[in-house]
Amino acid sequence: MAEWFADDSLWEAIYPFEFPDAVIAAGETQVANALRLRGVPQSGSALDLGCGPGRHAIALASRGFAVTAVDLSAFHLEKAKQNVAKARLAIELVQADMRAFMRPESFDLTLSLFTSFGYFDDAADALQTLQNIHRSLRQAGALVMDVLSKECLARRFQPTTSQKAPDGSVLFQRHAIVDDWTRVSNEWTVVAGSRVRTFDFSVRVYSGRELRDLLVRAGFASVELYGGLDGRPYDLEAERLVVVASKHGRDAR
Ligand SMILES: C[S@@+](CC[C@H](N)C(=O)[O-])C[C@H]1O[C@@H](n2cnc3c(N)ncnc32)[C@H](O)[C@@H]1O
Repeated sequence: MAEWFADDSLWEAIYPFEFPDAVIAAGETQVANALRLRGVPQSGSALDLGCGPGRHAIALASRGFAVTAVDLSAFHLEKAKQNVAKARLAIELVQADMRAFMRPESFDLTLSLFTSFGYFDDAADALQTLQNIHRSLRQAGALVMDVLSKECLARRFQPTTSQKAPDGSVLFQRHAIVDDWTRVSNEWTVVAGSRVRTFDFSVRVYSGRELRDLLVRAGFASVELYGGLDGRPYDLEAERLVVVASKHGRDAR
C-alpha cells in the first residue's frame, strides 16, 4: 500500500486548513526567528526539506540565500512554483523523497519546519533522512528542525478538534496516542459542500531527548533544543520542539 504522505489527495484536501493566508505569511517571521537562533548560518546555500508551498524557501531566497526546495508532493511543488513566481525569485524546486535526497557538502543551512519529519513507519527511514541531511551540509552547516514533540502533545492533547477554512469547508480531527506513546494516529475528515473525505495517518512523536539522540546517531556534533523558533527554552511552556543541530559543532565556524 502506498504510504499516506505520498497521497496528494490528502495534501490537496487539507490545504485550505493547513495553509490559509495567515500561515503562508507567518513563514517570513519564522525564518527571521530561525536565523536568530545561536549557531545558524546567516548566508550561503539553503535546503528547505519538505518545503510545501515554499513559504520558508521564499523568505530565505529574499534574504540572499541560494535555495533548493525539496518536496515529494507534486501538488505542493506546484503551489511553491506559483508562489516563487509571484515573489519573482529564483529557487530550485526538486521533487524527491527526503529518504533519497542527498547532495554531499552542498548546503550551509537546512530547514525542516512545521512537522515535516516523523512520517515514516520504519525507524531506519528516519535515521536515513537525518544522515542525508548531515551529509548534505557543509562543514560549518546546521539544521533547524521544528516538530510537535511528545512533551508538547502531552500538555495540550485534544482528542477531537474542528476547524473551518476560509472557503467554508470544515475539518474534523480525531487523535489518539498509540504504540506506547511513540506515534499519534490521526483521522481527518474534510467536509466540503456535500463531499466528505476521511484520511487516516500517523506521525511519530519524539521527546526532546529522543530527537537529540537520533540526531547525534546521524552524526551531528551538537544539538540545541528550544521551545519555539523564537528561541524560548524547551521547558513546560514550550509550544514546539525546535532543534539546531550543527554538523561539526560550533567550533567548526
Ligand atoms: C506539514 S507540511 C510542511 C511544509 C513546509 N515545511 C511548511 O512549513 O510550509 C510537510 C511537507 O512534507 C512533505 N513530505 C512528506 N513526506 C515527504 C517525503 N518523504 N519526502 C519529501 N517531502 C515530504 C509534504 O508533501 C509536505 O509538503
